[in-house]
Amino acid sequence: MERRKAFVFALLLLQLFSLVVGLQRSNFPMHFLFGASTSSYQIEGAYIEGNKSLSNWDVFTHTPGNIQDGSTGDVADDHYHRYMEDIELMQSLGINSYRFSIAWSRVLPRGRFGEVNQLGIEFYDKLINSLLLKGIQPFVTLSHYDIPQELEDRYGAWLNAEIREDFGYFAEVCFEAFGDRVKYWSTFNEPNVMVKKGYMNGKYPPNRCSEPFGNCLSGDSTTEPYIAAHNVILSHATAAEIYKTKYQKKQGGFIGIVMSTTWYEPLREIPEDRLAVQRALSFDAPWFLDPIVYGDYPPEMRQVLGSKLPEFTFEDQKKLQYKLDFIGVNHYTTLYAKDCLFSPCKVAGSEGHAFTFTTGERNRLPIGTPTAMPTFYVVPKGIENMIMYIMKRYNNMTMFITENGYAQGGASYTSLNDWLSDKDRVHYLQSYLNSVAIAMRRGADVRGYFIWSLIDNFEWLYGYTLRFGIYHVDYKTQERTPKLSAKWYKEFLAGSDMQL
Ligand code: NOJ
Repeated sequence: MERRKAFVFALLLLQLFSLVVGLQRSNFPMHFLFGASTSSYQIEGAYIEGNKSLSNWDVFTHTPGNIQDGSTGDVADDHYHRYMEDIELMQSLGINSYRFSIAWSRVLPRGRFGEVNQLGIEFYDKLINSLLLKGIQPFVTLSHYDIPQELEDRYGAWLNAEIREDFGYFAEVCFEAFGDRVKYWSTFNEPNVMVKKGYMNGKYPPNRCSEPFGNCLSGDSTTEPYIAAHNVILSHATAAEIYKTKYQKKQGGFIGIVMSTTWYEPLREIPEDRLAVQRALSFDAPWFLDPIVYGDYPPEMRQVLGSKLPEFTFEDQKKLQYKLDFIGVNHYTTLYAKDCLFSPCKVAGSEGHAFTFTTGERNRLPIGTPTAMPTFYVVPKGIENMIMYIMKRYNNMTMFITENGYAQGGASYTSLNDWLSDKDRVHYLQSYLNSVAIAMRRGADVRGYFIWSLIDNFEWLYGYTLRFGIYHVDYKTQERTPKLSAKWYKEFLAGSDMQL
């Protein structure tokens, strides 16, 4: 009896200890994936080397006025030539997984209209083999925004159903070439962002929109985003069908999709804004996830958009039955949602008649501490809320936190040391990761967490002005230097948590 009492007492002490010392590696299961993320266009460079063709982002960044600092991804982090050095950074951190994407235009420079580029296959072969030699699991995205420009020029890419065949072909080339070693496949990264920015407000290629937002080309924001999304969803379904019927059994991997997720709070404590929150949430990741998991668009979207949303045919439904094995969750921020069905709103894009999100203040306070990225605020509880929302909506489907990270930038950064002493990032990562642990204790099936990003890189419209890396990159010399956050991650993974 005495021994039992002592045992219970010891357990209580241990729990108390973990409350006091905070976040621990041991709060997460042994086989939990801890990693870092990147994407092809943002780090590889070598944009016309090794028989790679131009991607839509190559063309877009070479058009003056599109990128804040006038930069391109031509060289970026030169990862194409320095991948071995970057794998050494990963090894020194002690991560057990690395999330990256394959440049479609490197593997199939002309889509399905030309040959498979053996030099492209060789590059990813070498990358994957070197990762595995260091005990790092590749976690691979097929399309992280970039596509061969030829598909855009030939038939209008995502606006044309033909792209489903091209994407299926690309996916199969990758399963065939790398699937013996790659166990985690994501078909798309953030297609919700890709279609909103590409076809609703025209900020990303192919810069289409029908309203006067900057210099977008003519398009129809009220129909095109929904057509593009429909083709993405059915492209996912095409790849999932191929993987599940021909490769999954023999290769033993998993296939999912990665979505951008933002948590919302009502701007005003009124029923209209609380409903706007529900619409804002479902117009985001569920726009793609509901069709893949349940076979149709979210009811909240149908209600507002009616017949503007395309229908899934019987043939489509058959493809959609292959669903997915996991949901990838990219999460950074929480915003306010404000009703636009019953209240007048000035908003971008056709979803405006449902809700608008706002970075504005409620009771004179922003929703959380601002970061260098204009719409990213520090709200750690948001990731817990988001995970619980996905868990409930999709019946506790397996999730990976595929991106979470903190942007540095602005006039206050003047020396290398300013970039390296990133205490704010460490606090951000600690508090968000702690919220992930809480969600898991509440029952969520989360199997991994990836920091965006391993190294500073090309941040889309912001060029090189914003830095998300836990390693600093000097773009003149390509030298990589660990920031405080890299040291924190390493210590955390080794079993202790740095106290700042
Ligand atoms: C999401 C995107 O997947 C990634 O490419 C981007 O750099 C980060 N968020 C930060 O904005």
